[in-house]
This record gives sequence, C-alpha cells and structure tokens, in this order.
Amino acid sequence: MCGIVGYCGRRAAAPILLAGLKKLEYRGYDSAGVAVLNGTAFAVVRRAGRVSGLDGAASLMGNAGIGHTRWATHGAPSERNAHPHVWGDYAVVHNGIVENEHALKAECLARGEEFLSETDSEIVAHLLAREAGDPLVALRNVCARLEGSYALAVLCARTPGTVYCARRGSPLIVGRGKDGLYAASDAPAIATEAEELYALRDGEFAVLAGEEARIFNGELAAVSGDRIVCAAADDAPALDGFNHYMRKEMSEIPAVFARSLTDFAENSEFCKVLCQTEYIQIAACGTAYHSGLCAKFAIERFCRIPAETYIASEYRYLDPIVKENTLFLAVSQSGETADTLAAARLAAERGAVVVAVTNVAYSSLTRIARFTLLTQAGREIAVAATKSFNAQLALLYSLTAALARQRGRLAADPSALAPILSDALARSEETRAWTPFFAGARGAYFIGRGADHAVALEGSLKLKEVSYLPGEGYPAGELKHGTLALIDDKTPVVALAFSERLAEKTMNAVREVAARGAKVFLITCFEELCARKGVFRSLLLPPCEEAYSPAVSVLPLQALAYYVALARGNDPDKPRHLAKSVTVE
Ligand code: AGP
Repeated sequence: MCGIVGYCGRRAAAPILLAGLKKLEYRGYDSAGVAVLNGTAFAVVRRAGRVSGLDGAASLMGNAGIGHTRWATHGAPSERNAHPHVWGDYAVVHNGIVENEHALKAECLARGEEFLSETDSEIVAHLLAREAGDPLVALRNVCARLEGSYALAVLCARTPGTVYCARRGSPLIVGRGKDGLYAASDAPAIATEAEELYALRDGEFAVLAGEEARIFNGELAAVSGDRIVCAAADDAPALDGFNHYMRKEMSEIPAVFARSLTDFAENSEFCKVLCQTEYIQIAACGTAYHSGLCAKFAIERFCRIPAETYIASEYRYLDPIVKENTLFLAVSQSGETADTLAAARLAAERGAVVVAVTNVAYSSLTRIARFTLLTQAGREIAVAATKSFNAQLALLYSLTAALARQRGRLAADPSALAPILSDALARSEETRAWTPFFAGARGAYFIGRGADHAVALEGSLKLKEVSYLPGEGYPAGELKHGTLALIDDKTPVVALAFSERLAEKTMNAVREVAARGAKVFLITCFEELCARKGVFRSLLLPPCEEAYSPAVSVLPLQALAYYVALARGNDPDKPRHLAKSVTVE
C-alpha cells in the first residue's frame, strides 16, 4: 500500500513526482503529498484526497524531491497524517508498518519531541534527525531499529540533490534516466523516464545523487543491483468508450482467458516437478484466494492430488505442515501482496517447491519462487479484480490439465471454455435489470456448493468491495444451520448451480430461502431449473465443463457488483478505503 516516488536530477522535481504518483494511486488514494528540497530548505505540500488535489505542488522549486500517495494505516486520511513527514533535517515518505511504533515513540516523547501526526512513519524522521553524520549511515542505523516492513525515500537538508532509499518487506525500485535518478514503489511509475531499473532487495539501501544510483547491502558495501525490465506505461490507459476500468477490464476477459491458457512443455524442469508432486498447497488473498479455491476443486477432481487452499495471512501463522513433494502455488495478481509473500517464504523454508502465479514478471513474488507462471491479464487498473481472476483460472486450469497428463489421467481441456466466455459475458449484462432489488437491500447472500460456493464467495467480495453492501457467500447446504435466521424479503439471494451432481441440492436451499420471503436470482447452465418454484429471476449461461465453470459463472456476479455500485453512486474503480496492491500485513 502507499505509493512512493523520488527524483533528483537536472529537471524540476515536482512535476515528475506528481506524474509518478498519479501512476501509483492504485496503491492508495486517501491522501498525498510531496516535499522538494530547494537549496537546504524543504517545500512541502500535503492534502487529504487524491494526487490531483495537491494544489500548488507542481510549481515547487527544486531538483530533488520525494512524494507519496497514502492508504491510511495509522491515523485518519488527513493533511497532517499525509506524507512526507519532516523533522529536523529530514523529510521522509514511508510504505509499510513500523511495528515497534509504541516503544520508539515513547522514547522520542521522553526526549521532549512533539509528534505532528498520528502516523508510525513520522518516527523515522525523528530517529534520523537524532543521528549526526552521513545520512546513509543514519538511515542504516535507524532501519536497524525498525521492526515491521518499510520502503523509505528520504531527503536530508544537509545533502541537496540526493535521495536516500531503504527497503525491507515493501517494494522499492530505483532507476537511472538521461535527466536524472528515480525511485518508486512500482516500476511503471518511473519506466517512461528511467531506462535502467533495479529492484532493491530486502535489507538494501540506495543513494541517488549526481549521475549514479548506488545500491548498498546492510553493511553498506556497494552491490550490483537486481536489474528488472518493465515497459513504460501510461498513468491512464484509454477507456476505449467504457465509463470505468472495471467495466473495460471485464470486457477483456475472453481474450485474457485465452491468452493465459498455458502449454507446459513435457520434459521441462517444471513438468519433472509436477511428476513428483504429491500434495498441493495454494495460498493467496482476496480474489486470488478465490481463484485458488476454484483450482483446488479442479485439481482434486482431475488429478486426485490432495490440494488445500489457504488465506495467506492465516497460512503464515499456522505453523503449516509441508510434506515432501509439496507444490506450493502462491497466487497474486500484483506479486506484491505482503501476506502472500510471507506465506511463500515460509513454504519455501519448509521445503515446498514454490510457484508464483502472478501477473507481474518483475514482482517480489517471482524472486521468492522457484518457478514463475505468468498470467496474461495485462495491467489491471480497477481496484476490484475481474480479468485477473479469469487469467488465474486459465493458468491454474492449464496446470491442472498438465498435472493430470503427467499422472496418466484424463482432464477436460480448459481451452474449450474460451469460445463460451464471450457469449456468457454478453448474457451477464442481464443482471443490470436486477440492480433495483440489490441497490436498496440490507445485504445479499450468494449460495452454491463445491466450486459454485467458491464463486459465491467471489461474488460477495465483489459486491461488498464496489457497492459497500454487506454480502455473504455461503455453502448452500449450510444455511439451515443458523444463517437462515437472517433471510427475509429484504435479503436477495443469488444461487449458483453449475454442477449436474449438486444442482438439485442447491435447489433445496433455493426453496428454503424463498419460503422465508427471499427473492432468489438463479444463475445456472441448466435451463429446466429456471422455471422452478422459488426462482424470482434467472440467468441461463452456456453449458461448460463443471470443474472449470467458475470462469463462466463469475461473469454475471462481476457485472452485478458493477451495476449495483453505479446505482448507489459509487466509483467502482476506486472504492473507498481500499488499494489495489496490499503491501502491508
Ligand atoms: C479483489 O477485488 C481485491 N481488490 C483484493 O481482494 C485482491 O484480490 C487481493 O488484495 C489480492 O491481491 P493480489 O492478487 O495482488 O495478491
């Protein structure tokens, strides 16, 4: 979370910082700020709200500066809590969490220092100001005292024209261009300006000054950087006639799914690992967790290999049992989600073969993993994940088919789904007519069994995220064990039925909730179910292989969430309180 940009060089820093921050707003957009060093004085502009609200910042004078777009962790999104934080000779922007905040703050307060914000980040400026001498040494000393995670960009009034950087646990890229030196939380923010890009490794520092971006290890010995390649990217790719990125990205799903299908070359090192695999663990967060859940069903069905899906933030503290020949799939669109990275590290330590399933080739996850499988979703701008979910499914289903082949088992071919998706996408527009029943509701339920339940979870997450309506995904058979008490005529229920084996069982739950007054919106590929008693509205989607059906059945749920968000006057691309990339624990 939070986006950091740093610049020093021949040009005015402020416009470069602002352009970079706009590209990083997906990491947080509740407040923003820049600090520019003009001679030995800081000029600072900070505001609550988005980068576009930083009035006056563009005209700040100075050739070195740092900027920040925030996703609040400590203290409300307000001007005083916005970064950069200035204390003494130092200005600091921070991404991460200082976990020993209380002890360090108490120490500063005991020295009579006053805190100007409620953030944990301000502590870093206070601790730096106490250190005399070389700011790089000061930064190293301060970082040694910080518990938790950080990416830091720092200015020191004593060293004009210099930006200092540090990284542990939160991503930070530095780069060199013809007009100066750059730092950013993510490469696209500076890729148009910087020709050479390096990802700092955990525990590394960088000093940007003169013509050189120098990188140092924890002992402050110079090291060669970890060079990465990232194509230059616009801050705002064309909407191509769509009103929102979320809608545009949904429209790309058929192409993205087809592109992300992968052929695993027999005899590759990866296939040899697949051959030996006896257990599969999948860890991820949010939507990526749901794609992992969907994959578990397909893997167990076709490969008969035990597969378990974990919420990454839980896995890391579970003391997980990793048996020999365990393949660990870390699924993450961004490849930067802190909990997923931690889970992957732990699995690697315990002997699993870690595979990154990610959309970003240079992401931190790929550095932890032994193998990287790249989804081909393209850049996803909307905070709500849509096309990346289907891209993950395409890849995970391809993996399922390859794994089954290795074991001499038959698996359905996931590429058969690709032509179905366009039709399903078009039919999903029908959910727009359902929005009046959801927009004013107290909340909604999404029910299903097996893989349908995994999709129900994703549908409820999507609805919550963009419409701010409570939504719950529930196993259809479990409602009667308590939750049925919440069902009445103000709780629309979306029921999913894509499994021939389980559809009638789901219809039992449909009858039960309808009997309690709920309006049931059935999404199915079985035409005969649509006319059943208790079904208020139905959407018929094309039939498809049951084990892969989530790639199809999720489409109307994404559309429903989008249209309900619009009906409630929300911005579906930047939902309140959220950020696209969750780089804090
Ligand atoms: C989904 O719509 C969310 N924005 C969120 O749940 C997301 O999927 C999650 O934070 C994981 O992100 P990742 O795929 O980049 O790891």
